[in-house]
Amino acid sequence: MANDERVSVLCVVGARPNFMKIAPIMRSFNRPECKIKATLLHTGQHYDAAMKQSFFDQLGIPEPDIDLGVGGGSHAEQTAEIMKRFEPVVIETKPDVVLVVGDVNSTVACALVASKLGVKVIHVEAGLRSYDRAMPEEINRVLTDQISDLLFTTEESALGNLEREGIDRGRVHFVGNVMIDTLRFNLTRAIPAKETLEGFEIRERYGLVTFHRPSNVDVDSVLKGIVSTLINISKTIPLVFPVHPRTENSLKDKGYWPLLEAANIVLLKPQGYLELLGVMSEAAVVLTDSGGLQEETTALGVPCITIRESTERPITITEGTNVLVGTDPTRIIDAFEDVMTTGGKSGSIPKYWDGNAADRISEVIVSLAPQLQS
Ligand code: UD1
Repeated sequence: MANDERVSVLCVVGARPNFMKIAPIMRSFNRPECKIKATLLHTGQHYDAAMKQSFFDQLGIPEPDIDLGVGGGSHAEQTAEIMKRFEPVVIETKPDVVLVVGDVNSTVACALVASKLGVKVIHVEAGLRSYDRAMPEEINRVLTDQISDLLFTTEESALGNLEREGIDRGRVHFVGNVMIDTLRFNLTRAIPAKETLEGFEIRERYGLVTFHRPSNVDVDSVLKGIVSTLINISKTIPLVFPVHPRTENSLKDKGYWPLLEAANIVLLKPQGYLELLGVMSEAAVVLTDSGGLQEETTALGVPCITIRESTERPITITEGTNVLVGTDPTRIIDAFEDVMTTGGKSGSIPKYWDGNAADRISEVIVSLAPQLQS
């Protein structure tokens, strides 16, 4: 421990979905009465203004104290580069704890470095499992949880997953969902859809589409099926589609971009948090492969059709508004028609998705200060 009695926590972010998770944590840690000294490090995994800076600005995240500037690369290159650049920072700054969020490459890379240096690791959003090891995030989740000292979970299914992997339940704390803290904090600030969609011919109900998973984007036969399904759906209602850089590259390479442009589909650049929140909360339906949107639609009560074979967030199905349909065009269309005719599933708000998860995390960390500082 440094020369004050607060627990020093080095908080790590790297990619877009991390930013929504860290915002309420930094806000909670930085309360004057909170006995935590937080430092923020960005690995640089995501670097474009639309993928990084707009989130820092809109969510009020303090500028990172340290930016590793890593950028893109293959999984091995990216993970290795983060590790190489992160290790000297931990050695020099000597935090009591390294805190990582979510399941991106930055999460596992920094957890591994800290753990090997004997620095305690906290994982926020622990224990989620899709049981699909073809998903890079699943590998990141399993490995990060194995080397974490303190694990904070978002839904009750996570504890069973962790126990099956031999993790002591005494290290696991069910605190709720920090991503939903961010949603609740910002809902009244969301930018109305009509502003974001100004200039486009959207005057009626619309669907929101996002997808970027390698399994959907990089495999031509799957991408082709999704593109033709979206074009079919857009004959019933207009679609709004903010396109992730990975998806844009693949759609252009494979020649599908002009087909989408010609359909009743508004193609947008990646949107800021407040723009997307406005568009999502007013959508008639969301079609997505994003983990975050599955949770956010459940919190908002908006019907969600998940274009994946599995989900690591089962509570969005058992309690929320989500249906999991895979990539088969017939199943996607059936689910869409069900939403159009019945209004979709009605759901309830999962336990502890109440806007206070980050404060629960602070409380646990402070209560465990002697162990974390030993
Ligand atoms: C990463 C995460 C994924 C998360 C997603 C959200 C991993 C394994 N995956 O996937 O879990 O859902 O972020 O976006 O960590 N690019 C840019 N500008 C940027 C960032 C990326 O143009 O600011 C492009 C680059 O061409 C890059 C590609 O997007 O190679 C993919 O980025 P990468 O971070 O490797 O993975 P994502 O698909 O974004």
